[in-house]
Amino acid sequence: MNYIYINDEFVDESEGKISYSDRGYNFGDGIYEYIRIYEGKVFTSKEHYERLFRSAKEIGLNLDAYSVEGLTEVTKELAAKNNVVNGGVYIQVTRGVAPRNHPFPDASTKPVFSAFSKSYDRPYDELENGVKTITVEDIRWLRCDIKSLNLLGNVLAKEKATQNDAAEAIMHRGETVTEGSSSNVYAIKGGKIYTHPANNLILNGITRRVIKELADDLNIPFIEESFTLDFLNDADEVIISSTSIEVMPVVQVNDQKIGDGKVGQITKQLQNAFNNYIESKS
Ligand code: PDD
Repeated sequence: MNYIYINDEFVDESEGKISYSDRGYNFGDGIYEYIRIYEGKVFTSKEHYERLFRSAKEIGLNLDAYSVEGLTEVTKELAAKNNVVNGGVYIQVTRGVAPRNHPFPDASTKPVFSAFSKSYDRPYDELENGVKTITVEDIRWLRCDIKSLNLLGNVLAKEKATQNDAAEAIMHRGETVTEGSSSNVYAIKGGKIYTHPANNLILNGITRRVIKELADDLNIPFIEESFTLDFLNDADEVIISSTSIEVMPVVQVNDQKIGDGKVGQITKQLQNAFNNYIESKS
């Protein structure tokens, strides 16, 4: 059995059916989160679910029937039922099932809530050796702070990275670097960490928030100011981060090596601090 959670029930994945009139399916009208499981424990669940509630509010989706605590319990139970020791839980909520029509459906329409889990190891090789990235124009909408199901801009960017044997596409609006197709981006220069401010042009990553806290503890300046493609290419170290890739070193951007092409010292410091943080929460 592999359990999924759908419409308030745990069922085998073969029994999970979604209506063709689901607004998530028709319009991408919904939101999601992806939460990490380390050693059987749900990591930064409160932060993820608070962000889910914020996304819901921003798109006018009523989640009054749910709570952060209740959803954390569902996440724990799903991971436990599927024996996930290390892995993740994906959760999405759509605006429900209604005949296809752009305006919001009747207020009595119930959101459709679903979740699945998967097991996998931490990406140890990449964390140690770093990854290659490319840069692509950021063609997404102007509310990237909402963790929306609409990911076409992100999907096209990531596909271009994959076609170029790169792990991630670093996006930019004109000369300004925003974020990765599924990660936040940091340039380290002169002992300081620079990253795009958490405004409407990026997702305010939960891993980004942890990195900010760890940088503060380590007395490494964390500067939330946008920077250019030239600044990125000239950086001493570059990092991308997300729930699944953690504090991931970038050793190449397009054809350009970052620094000496090896994982840098500040990156290593942050990785150590991140490992300790995971252990302290497990
Ligand atoms: N993506 N920016 C974008 C566009 C993202 O999709 C993600 C995460 C992040 C990092 O957020 P966090 O640290 O909270 O994971 C930033 C998830 C992992 C995904 O889409 O699967």
